[in-house]
Amino acid sequence: MPRNQQILLDNRPQGEATVDNFRLVTTDTPALQDGQVLVRHHYLSLDPYMRGRMNDSKSYAASQPLGEVMIGGTVGEVVESRHPAYAVGDKVVGMGGWQEYSVVDGNTPGMLRKVDTTHVPLSAYLGAVGMPGVTAWYGLVKIIAPKAGETVVVSAASGAVGSAFGALAKARGCRVVGIAGGPDKCRYVTEELGFDACIDHRANGDLKSMARALKEACPDGIDGYFENVGGYILDAVLLRANAFARVAVCGMIAGYDGQPLPLQNPALILINRMKVEGFIVSEHMEVWPEALKELGGLAASGKLRPRETIAQGLAAAPEAFLGLLKGKNFGKQLVKLV
Ligand SMILES: NC(=O)c1ccc[n+]([C@@H]2O[C@H](COP(=O)([O-])OP(=O)(O)OC[C@H]3O[C@@H](n4cnc5c(N)ncnc54)[C@H](OP(=O)(O)O)[C@@H]3O)[C@@H](O)[C@H]2O)c1
Repeated sequence: MPRNQQILLDNRPQGEATVDNFRLVTTDTPALQDGQVLVRHHYLSLDPYMRGRMNDSKSYAASQPLGEVMIGGTVGEVVESRHPAYAVGDKVVGMGGWQEYSVVDGNTPGMLRKVDTTHVPLSAYLGAVGMPGVTAWYGLVKIIAPKAGETVVVSAASGAVGSAFGALAKARGCRVVGIAGGPDKCRYVTEELGFDACIDHRANGDLKSMARALKEACPDGIDGYFENVGGYILDAVLLRANAFARVAVCGMIAGYDGQPLPLQNPALILINRMKVEGFIVSEHMEVWPEALKELGGLAASGKLRPRETIAQGLAAAPEAFLGLLKGKNFGKQLVKLV
């Protein structure tokens, strides 16, 4: 059986997460039991939710236990199988964690899903045609539920969730405005992802300036906002929201290292009669087939071809993950393991 490099959570962050919170170890993969499958991971997905799991505080999901392999989505290939439904060479997506190989019980529902890489590249099943894509779909379709011609705004627009949101909203005839960090990301959002406009939050780093930029980019006001960041950007959106606007609260990455994110004028939610709804995509498994079908179609037809930032080798994962929390990634952050 092959040797397996793994990254464990060694200790919990005190404030900002650091590389010293993680530990790289090498172990032997155990011999397979009946019903088990050995998967060699090609890519590991790095996602902002992992930062929350590193804490030992109340959340929607259990904390990552210390001394265990970090949680994470993976795509890879079956290299040995003692389960009749899986053959060597099958391409699969699962939650293999921060390691090169995983042993998976093929009988446990939802642990492993075979994927077709004829028209969609394997890595896309961790991004546009995976959890981040479905996240965008749920917030747009089930919470914002836009009509054609309405204006929708998304923060972290160049990222895995934001780029999928843009393609899905354009397909519904919306005016789509992104918010992203820096001129390169903004140019990519409009020129390559096809958004109608993009606001650079680094050049509009306070409430007044962001509200002014939103007024210009959204001349008819804002009907839907997909929140990925939090802080003054949400305050600015509330100032420009139309009556009966909907906010899908997906993430607040600006506060994941413990920074406070006060809301300056919550009365606008009442004044605008707004709907503000948080959601966790894994609690809505019923929409995944429909969402993945649409996202797969967009990806196969080339209408959804988001950018990827790829770190090389498992040892690079902690640094890449910390970079993701600071906006150093450009598109879906992955780690290539083979
Ligand atoms: N609710 C759910 O079920 C669910 C599921 C998946 C993801 N999420 C959330 O969705 C959001 C996007 O996730 P993703 O995987 O697509 O990541 P991503 O957008 O690919 O990467 C994170 C991006 O966040 C932006 N960012 C980080 N710190 C920021 C700050 N202080 N101010 C403004 N922007 C900041 C950066 O983009 P810029 O450089 O452009 O600012 C960075 O590239 C996250 O908040 C994540 O937690 C939620």
